[in-house]
Amino acid sequence: MKLNPRLHKTSSRKKDHVLLTVKKDVKFKEKTNHFEKWEFCHNALPEINFFEIDTTTVFLHKELSFPFLISCMTGGYKEAKLINRQLAEVCEEKKIALGVGSQRQALENSDYHSSFSIVRKAAPTIPIIGNIGASEVAQLRDTSSIQKLADMIQANAFAIHLNPLQELIQPEGSTNFRGVLNGIEKLVNKLSIPVIVKEIGAGISFNVAKKLADVGVTYIDVAGAGGTSWAGVEILRKNKSSWQEIFWDWGIPTADSLTQVSELKKEFPSLQIISSGGITNGIEIAKSVAMSADVVGSARPLLQQLINYGKKGLDQLINDWHSQLKGAMFLVGALTIDELQHTAIQKVS
Ligand SMILES: Cc1cc2nc3c(=O)[nH]c(=O)nc-3n(C[C@H](O)[C@H](O)[C@H](O)COP(=O)(O)O)c2cc1C
Repeated sequence: MKLNPRLHKTSSRKKDHVLLTVKKDVKFKEKTNHFEKWEFCHNALPEINFFEIDTTTVFLHKELSFPFLISCMTGGYKEAKLINRQLAEVCEEKKIALGVGSQRQALENSDYHSSFSIVRKAAPTIPIIGNIGASEVAQLRDTSSIQKLADMIQANAFAIHLNPLQELIQPEGSTNFRGVLNGIEKLVNKLSIPVIVKEIGAGISFNVAKKLADVGVTYIDVAGAGGTSWAGVEILRKNKSSWQEIFWDWGIPTADSLTQVSELKKEFPSLQIISSGGITNGIEIAKSVAMSADVVGSARPLLQQLINYGKKGLDQLINDWHSQLKGAMFLVGALTIDELQHTAIQKVS
């Protein structure tokens, strides 16, 4: 694998990220997402008909076939157009939501705007989520540039990613996080669509979620630890050892982050939570929902599936996860997503 030497360019960085996450082992080394610490109580008398299980749900005013989205990943370089088109076609077919990768490159020039706008063309009916990073938000003077990014893809929500760990390790990273919360508040007040605040694999704590909810954020994607390590990705991009290597496994495991953030639903009942970070099957989707998530997301496993096995392979994996979710619902006696959200789940270790 050859990484592009023009590291300062946003496009080549986005390309490197896809290459590295698909080809290299950038999972957390020791830490898991901690969903293995949570168990449903098996129901030997579910008293429901498997074929009547209804997994549909509403997200961003649109119906999904089950509570699932492909998390924000790519855009902003030539080959990203095909990836985003294929992701969008599969999401449209499966009736699940899709996020695009950081649209920072589209702020710099218009060379690759179509690598983003293709998603709406290929997926006219599903929820589409725009994306920008914390460092752009910290410097935000005028929210109209972000509104334009949202309009470019007719987004139903706009995600802001908080990635201090990645910026810390990235050679060209931006580590001035002053003003991010203020920028988020501006966007919450000015954008025509809801703001989603997400991490990218190090999780969101109760205190951070509270600050976000206090400024009006109503969608939080915990994007916790246990799946893709963004410290790992940036360490491999550097290609030489450094003091940052010790941070490979840094972060709050997804299940722990979800438990912390879901506490806030008591004070902010309209808060919508997305559970993501190392999700690899339908039982973890079911556990997330029972632990108060409204929607569940996954990134790297789905990208790998698309690149390695094409659209058919991605379609098959999503079908499997959907069937596994239904299987878990049958075995706990939950006929609907609402019933699953009210199903007991216990911490076992
Ligand atoms: C190739 C790739 C590129 C990504 N780029 C972005 C991005 O631009 N913006 C963002 O918010 N998250 C980005 N992410 C992070 C994911 O949205 C997700 O939060 C993270 O990878 C953890 O999920 P996972 O363990 O399922 O991969 C990217 C992930 C991958 C695999």
